[in-house]
Amino acid sequence: MGEMMNFNSVQGKAVIVTGAGSGIGNAIAGVYGAHGMKVVCADRDSERGQAAADGICANGGEAVFVQTDCRSADDIRRLVETAVERFGRLDGIVNNAGIGMGGTPLHEYGMEDYDKIFDLNSKGVFAGMKYGAEAIFKSHSHGGFIINVASVAGLVPQKGQALYTATKYGVIGMTKAAALDYAMYGVTVNAICPGYTKTSIFGNAPQQAMDFFAQDCPAGHLGDPAECAALALFLASDLARYITGAAIPVDGALSAGHQNVSSWKHPELVSVENMGADSTIAGTH
Ligand SMILES: NC(=O)c1ccc[n+]([C@@H]2O[C@H](COP(=O)([O-])OP(=O)(O)OC[C@H]3O[C@@H](n4cnc5c(N)ncnc54)[C@H](O)[C@@H]3O)[C@@H](O)[C@H]2O)c1
Repeated sequence: MGEMMNFNSVQGKAVIVTGAGSGIGNAIAGVYGAHGMKVVCADRDSERGQAAADGICANGGEAVFVQTDCRSADDIRRLVETAVERFGRLDGIVNNAGIGMGGTPLHEYGMEDYDKIFDLNSKGVFAGMKYGAEAIFKSHSHGGFIINVASVAGLVPQKGQALYTATKYGVIGMTKAAALDYAMYGVTVNAICPGYTKTSIFGNAPQQAMDFFAQDCPAGHLGDPAECAALALFLASDLARYITGAAIPVDGALSAGHQNVSSWKHPELVSVENMGADSTIAGTH
């Protein structure tokens, strides 16, 4: 008989989540706080970042907000120092803050667009990994972890997204290289690759675009940030110690392959209610 498994091992681990003010980072910070982790919520936006930390505390958890612009290596160094001062240690960092851009052919991007997106999505992630790893090692963490929120665009390039795609391929590359560096020393390094997920990253994208995303996804609907948070909880737990160097999609099969035409001989096998239904996890956080 196997033993029952649970997420108790995350309790008391001190973790930084960047971009915790909104979307996927907000869901990860909330789930971590609810499971007894000490959460440092980092965001450029002080109102939303503070609200994230307050929400965790109101829920009986432990959290602080540190205003951080993740494009600045100095800000990230200070963020990590503050986390260690506040909680006496660091066990994990989730490099989640990132921006989208786009929808234009490569040549229509400006050189300034390159700097804008690489400064956050690539350099910011490197700085978070670098200073985070140093602090995790200095803490002699048992069960240390680094999670980078990449994208399915880091697994399969997206049309109109040359720069975003490049940053996310880079994040997955750094994730795997660092996993090799640290595997022997007990710190795991993984990437979460969200597919189309309901967050503010789409800005005011027209309904037509949102409908396209839902149809483009084999699951027939967008994902919920809570689904990425569930994976982030697992990766932070000691259940996942042997998972390192992985880039794991949370994408309703978006990156699994191409869609095609097919028809079911026995369509009565599937209930209409399940088809394209929204995720069951949505709304549970
Ligand atoms: N939503 C999706 O469909 C999707 C898909 C794939 C990957 N992702 C990735 O998930 C991550 C989170 O995106 P999201 O969808 O939750 O976006 P979001 O816009 O809802 O949240 C991003 C958060 O990051 C913060 N932020 C922005 N710039 C920052 C900076 N310079 N320094 C610190 N914080 C900053 C914002 O204030 C915001 O709170 C990003 O890396 C994104 O590329 C999202």
